[in-house]
Amino acid sequence: MAGSPLLPLLLALLLRVPAEARAPLDSLLRGAAPCQAGLPCPLAPLGKPSSPRVNVSLYYEALCGGCRAFLVRELFPTWLMVNEILNVTLVPYGNAQEHNVSGKWEFSCQHGEEECKLNKVEACLLDQLEWSAAFLTIVCLEELDDMEGNLKPCLQIYAPKESPDAIMECAMGDRGTQLLHVNAQLTGALQPPHEYVPWVLVNGKPLEDINQLLSLVCQLYQGEKPELCPAQPSSHRDVCFK
Ligand SMILES: *[C@@H]1O[C@H](CO)[C@@H](O)[C@H](O)[C@H]1NC(C)=O
Ligand SMILES: *[C@@H]1O[C@H](CO)[C@@H](O)[C@H](O)[C@H]1NC(C)=O
Ligand SMILES: *[C@@H]1O[C@H](CO)[C@@H](O)[C@H](O)[C@H]1NC(C)=O
Repeated sequence: MAGSPLLPLLLALLLRVPAEARAPLDSLLRGAAPCQAGLPCPLAPLGKPSSPRVNVSLYYEALCGGCRAFLVRELFPTWLMVNEILNVTLVPYGNAQEHNVSGKWEFSCQHGEEECKLNKVEACLLDQLEWSAAFLTIVCLEELDDMEGNLKPCLQIYAPKESPDAIMECAMGDRGTQLLHVNAQLTGALQPPHEYVPWVLVNGKPLEDINQLLSLVCQLYQGEKPELCPAQPSSHRDVCFK
């Protein structure tokens, strides 16, 4: 996505811009598709796809730098451009481990306690919000430092009716533990097992080149290609021939 003129615009949406200042950006992104007030709109029309959607699953953990970069700079722009052909699944857990401590699941995370808490926050967002509101809120958090501190402002933008306290209650309670345990099982069941995070499956197969998500998704989609798909699968190499 490097060099895409859309990117600064998209990223601007993630910043905590007051609602009045956001309005022109919203209408710019709105395009032809009708949109809910206050939410930035996908660029692609929300029409019915004519063929099965391409499944994209992201196995990740909240504080891993590569995961954040992939989510914000690859998956999010791809989703904004061709959401109508995608079925995205997020599984926050990654390289964490779980232990059965006298019948209760406890977790240890690669980037410490805070990461376990944030994995639960994101699992709770996915559990309690409409999917795209959860996704946009997670992208918003992952873009910022102090994710926990930014839960409230991010929710205010993407799910203003949702209470940050209710999400934290889920994350700190039994529900958060239960959701993370499910993600542990999903991650543990991967075949082949994940080797690193972000681990991305496209139609069930590990994505080898993490920078080729948009072109791969467009290539795999059997129906009429969305307008924003690259003209050809970008197989060009970044080299200069004599
Ligand atoms: C989307 O992905 C989820 C989780 O993998 C799956 O259960 C669901 O059937 C998929 N939906 C479509 C339309 O492919
Ligand atoms: C967890 O440990 C408890 C005893 O400490 C045991 O009764 C229970 O079956 C274990 N659960 C699993 C899923 O291993
Ligand atoms: C997407 O995943 C669902 C659920 O696992 C599956 O039924 C569907 O066939 C998958 N779609 C494609 C295009 O592989």
